[in-house]
Amino acid sequence: MPRTAELTYTNYPYTNGDRSDEELNKQIISLARRNKFYLKNIQGLFKNSISRAFSRAFGGGSTEIYVAKNGVKVVGFIIFWGEVLWGTCRMCMDLHYWLVDKDYRNMGIGGELYSMMEKQATNYGLVNYSVMYKKDDDMLKQLYEKKGYKFIPRYDGVDTQECCSGDIHIKVFKVIQSRYSIPTLFTGGKEMPDLLLLR
Ligand SMILES: CC(C)(COP(=O)(O)OP(=O)(O)OC[C@H]1O[C@@H](n2cnc3c(N)ncnc32)[C@H](O)[C@@H]1OP(=O)(O)O)[C@@H](O)C(=O)NCCC(=O)NCCS
Repeated sequence: MPRTAELTYTNYPYTNGDRSDEELNKQIISLARRNKFYLKNIQGLFKNSISRAFSRAFGGGSTEIYVAKNGVKVVGFIIFWGEVLWGTCRMCMDLHYWLVDKDYRNMGIGGELYSMMEKQATNYGLVNYSVMYKKDDDMLKQLYEKKGYKFIPRYDGVDTQECCSGDIHIKVFKVIQSRYSIPTLFTGGKEMPDLLLLR
């Protein structure tokens, strides 16, 4: 069991539109590599591609990263993205990548990172959650069911999707609120039909 007297949790924000802490980038990538966890995708987050810069310049690409450190060593991260009024998953926090180093699992670190994502969801007024995971992973199935996620058949017309690693992923949702009524204050007193957040 590793010594964890110095566990800390921090947000990794953008600086001048970039994730420019080279040491932190290196450690996050190394953690993904050691745990064989979507290495290419994680590396891609720190590449300064033109499309990424373009997306950020127009307010997109607001992926958020929180890391757990044991002293100076990164031992876990959570990466998520809030969908406010985009596509069909409106007001939904989308969990992208969530990893704790093998040696540090089942000690509450992942749970702490997850609750940081929940706090951010609350800060942004996001009410629902979504995540994709490897369909045949029973541990994740159990974990997400326990957290209140459910499979919604044919939601978005997609039940499962092949991801870059070739694995088949399933998308599940935690639906707290499925409709939103726009306050008449913003509609000039006119009653508007409810906005469908999630079916
Ligand atoms: C998922 C993961 C990040 C959890 O991290 P962790 O530090 O071990 O998690 P914690 O000890 O804080 O436990 C978090 C929750 O998972 C549950 N959990 C942990 N291990 C579990 C298992 N083997 N089976 C079922 N549930 C489990 C805990 O009961 C806890 O639930 P709670 O929040 O309701 O109490 C970690 O297992 C991991 O890195 N897995 C590999 C990467 C992965 O599959 N990530 C998810 C991709 S979508």
